[in-house]
Amino acid sequence: HDPYSSRNFNDTRGGGEGAARLPPPAMQGEPGSVEGAPQAPSSDFVPKCDIMGKDALSALHRTGSRQCRQEIANIVCQHQAGQLMPRALPQFCPLHGFSSPVQTAEELDNDLSKVENPVRVAFVLVVHGRAIRQLKRLIKAIYHRDHFYYIHVDKRSNYLHREVQQIAQQYPNVRATPWRMVTIWGGASLLKAYLRSMQDLLSMLDWNWDFFINLSATDFPTRTNDELVAFLSQHRDQNFLKSHGRENARFIKKQGLDRLFHECDNHMWRLGERTIPEGLEVSGGSDWFSLTRRFVEYVINSQDELVAGLKQFYTYALLPAESFFHTVLGNSHMCDSLVDNNLRVTNWNRKLGCKCQYKHIVDWCGCSPNDFKPQDLVRIQQLTRPTFFARKFESMVNQEAIDILDTHLYGHYAPGTVAIKAYWESLFEQADGVGSLSDVALTAYSSFFRLGLRSLDSSQTSLETCRYEPIGYPVSVHLYFYDERFQGYLVRQEVQNVGSRVRETVEVWAVPQATMQLENNLREFERLKNLEVGTEWDPKERIFRNFGGVIGPLDEPVAVQKWVRGPNLTATIVWIDPAQTVAASYDISVDVDAEYTQYKPPLQRPLRPGAWTVRVLRLWERVAEARFLVMPLAFKGREPLHQEEDSWLHAGPPGNLYLEQGFQQLRSVLKLPPQEPALQEAQQRAQLVGKPLEAWVDRTVGAFWVTGDLCSTLPSPGPCPSLGPCTKSTWSSLAPDPKSELGPVKGDGRIR
Ligand code: UDX
Repeated sequence: HDPYSSRNFNDTRGGGEGAARLPPPAMQGEPGSVEGAPQAPSSDFVPKCDIMGKDALSALHRTGSRQCRQEIANIVCQHQAGQLMPRALPQFCPLHGFSSPVQTAEELDNDLSKVENPVRVAFVLVVHGRAIRQLKRLIKAIYHRDHFYYIHVDKRSNYLHREVQQIAQQYPNVRATPWRMVTIWGGASLLKAYLRSMQDLLSMLDWNWDFFINLSATDFPTRTNDELVAFLSQHRDQNFLKSHGRENARFIKKQGLDRLFHECDNHMWRLGERTIPEGLEVSGGSDWFSLTRRFVEYVINSQDELVAGLKQFYTYALLPAESFFHTVLGNSHMCDSLVDNNLRVTNWNRKLGCKCQYKHIVDWCGCSPNDFKPQDLVRIQQLTRPTFFARKFESMVNQEAIDILDTHLYGHYAPGTVAIKAYWESLFEQADGVGSLSDVALTAYSSFFRLGLRSLDSSQTSLETCRYEPIGYPVSVHLYFYDERFQGYLVRQEVQNVGSRVRETVEVWAVPQATMQLENNLREFERLKNLEVGTEWDPKERIFRNFGGVIGPLDEPVAVQKWVRGPNLTATIVWIDPAQTVAASYDISVDVDAEYTQYKPPLQRPLRPGAWTVRVLRLWERVAEARFLVMPLAFKGREPLHQEEDSWLHAGPPGNLYLEQGFQQLRSVLKLPPQEPALQEAQQRAQLVGKPLEAWVDRTVGAFWVTGDLCSTLPSPGPCPSLGPCTKSTWSSLAPDPKSELGPVKGDGRIR
């Protein structure tokens, strides 16, 4: 039972924002974890003490690196000896409890012209991923000549970092942190990164800021810069931090603050229990805040026991930024400057956002807010406290919500402005290195590109001039969305014209084909609105993050059904492989108000490559069917496939058995064709390498994808007349996208 699943929207009380609870017992059943009797940790080092705690032993078993195991052992031993955590800390706040006046939004006086000496803000942006076009829109919306922008990019997000460095070259008040951390979700590193940014910002003597505001790339302003500056200038001594607002003991438990955590190997390991230091009150809530320079100076420079002790305490805390600053401030001599408002609106929908989705990163159940859709934006108006930013936004999920806010703040773009409804997100750039691609991605992108070139060639049968050979690997791959819909992949690669031998770079647009079919007489199954198989199912946004379903033999696809309200029903789902083997069959029961059902049958791999079918059946009668492609791999470890050693990859599972139990007895009721010919053909194909393999890949990919268009990056028309310039092809990743372009600073100090 998930105690949080029935909580209302916006109810962040109880725990902090991101934390929900201890993970369910299922976690303890995972490989390497401890159930029952403690096992001895692997013996590549000797801990300095006898480690007996269940959590610590479990962590030691699950860690990958020796270094991480060593760190964990040292920390646990220090903790056991009572030397790690402060036992008691001083309380400098003269007040009883915290005073936290909350102003109402109606009381706002936003007139900047009345403000003397307007505040200057240091924005710290902690970003990761690849959504540079959205980040640019955010920067554009919050930019002012008088503010400062200090950007930390996750050490793993090199593409984003390269792009951010370019932005930093463009504006003197934008800088990227010269150091980078792997800031995992909920990790101790996030607090470390904030503290280090604060230290840097204090030491930049040319940046004279008054307020510190943190943002991520998924934030967006809800009020203009003038409004923000007017407000902060009138509250220049106040620190804005939102608290959970209920019982503290409950907060501490939900938040896991009474547990010791340690971050290593990109994971937060839970190592056992600890006690809260005596003498002070621990508090917390949201890790999005606006802090005065004076408080930041105190946090960074003070040597007092409170700050030093809390820094130590929060070095070993989950989601530390949700509580560290609250606790320092609340117990400090500055406690009367605390306002219980983080100036943000967070789009919580805990039913979707608290699915324990981070348990591979943290030993805890974490929550995330949902992405705003246009219908959620009313929540911004409904709040009575003043707010200036909202989260989260993801253009890939919904760009219209950003457009609405952006327009509301700064007006429409000029009539006729292109690409307002288009969104591109990079998946791969040459500079990432081809080693960053999976074999199936590399296979798919190369095939999309070949199919594109072939379509160009065949549409111009008489023209030699339109025949091209691809060279090397793709140099750039983008996801393309239009009007909130995924439109396909854009693959750019170098080519050589077969006739003229001239080289140029071409972009191909590969569009996925819909594959679902519904029968006529659906009756209660009218409820069924979609049936899809994919990987990287995101239960929060309820989309497959692997857009278009690029699936290979070693993947673990999940089937998802989308329903509208209707009668309770039971459906049978059957998976059929390309050799007509019934791979899986299972029933799902669908409640009246179920919206999505999903299941990932634990199929034995490798999955046989080719066209798979998933059927939805009512009493063994087909009501719907969808096909999905398991791509044959043209690469193994980014090298072309070898005949002998790699043929197992395409041979299907051992014994042609996908699950412990076979389902061959269902063949007749499913009216499947005889299996022998299909199986024989599949076995022959499994041996293919080189050009014949490539041809097979292209045939199967071509059955699921079509070429939308192609364009060339040549500045002047090339030899093939039907290959237009990319800058003039509205779909191309090289087409103008004014909403995401960062131009010169205008007279009013802004860019937007
Ligand atoms: C939510 C809450 O908003 C937040 O208060 C809480 O701390 C965590 O849960 P969520 O959307 O889940 O936020 O987190 P996300 O925005 O993904 O990450 C938080 C911050 O860490 C962001 O600045 C993000 O860019 C950064 N981060 C996250 C990384 O740098 N790398 C990662 O791999 C993940």
